Amino acid sequence: MKVLGISGSPTKESNTDVLIRAILEATGAEREFIKLSEIKVGPCIACMKCVYTNECVIKDDFKWLSGRVMEADAIIVGSPTYYGSASAFMKAFIERLYSKRHIKLLMRGKIAATVAVGVAAEKMVAEWMGNALRAGGMEIVGSMTAKGTPCCFMCGPGETCNYTVWNAYSKAILPTVLLIQERKC
Ligand SMILES: Cc1cc2nc3c(=O)[nH]c(=O)nc-3n(C[C@H](O)[C@H](O)[C@H](O)COP(=O)(O)O)c2cc1C
Repeated sequence: MKVLGISGSPTKESNTDVLIRAILEATGAEREFIKLSEIKVGPCIACMKCVYTNECVIKDDFKWLSGRVMEADAIIVGSPTYYGSASAFMKAFIERLYSKRHIKLLMRGKIAATVAVGVAAEKMVAEWMGNALRAGGMEIVGSMTAKGTPCCFMCGPGETCNYTVWNAYSKAILPTVLLIQERKC
């Protein structure tokens, strides 16, 4: 069995990377780790040229990467939470998987797990990645979210922030907390 871990975090040895690597290790299977920020995978340009071929025509590293995905039996995708969403690296990668869906649903039969790291809205990111991969035909067998490194500098630099501005992107947060945040910053 081959397991491929794909990180959408551009930070060196990030929280996302560490978690993906730990899951890869725990599988005991043949494994590979790819960091999207170290290769070039741009967004889908909606040219629809992939509709009958299942091949994306954009000339970047997706051709190589999609080969690795197609060879894998399982993938673990992980992303940091940026503005309540997956990182642009992860978003672009998932958009490009669109080319593998048409007619043949080429990713059917693969299993996937998601990892999302953030300060407040990481659950939304895990949910989004899971839904996108499921739409591509994969079966989501696990999902993990973790609290990451606070880096909202509204109140100045620091290690902690109880009322981080990123809470604004979390469905779970109450409007009253946002009011407190406004007064604090
Ligand atoms: C541009 C940017 C936007 C961010 N937006 C959010 C956000 O909306 N919600 C959140 O919870 N954290 C947000 N963060 C914090 C990151 O999710 C947090 O630092 C996380 O640990 C990053 O994951 P990594 O360490 O695996 O790279 C943001 C960080 C950056 C750099």
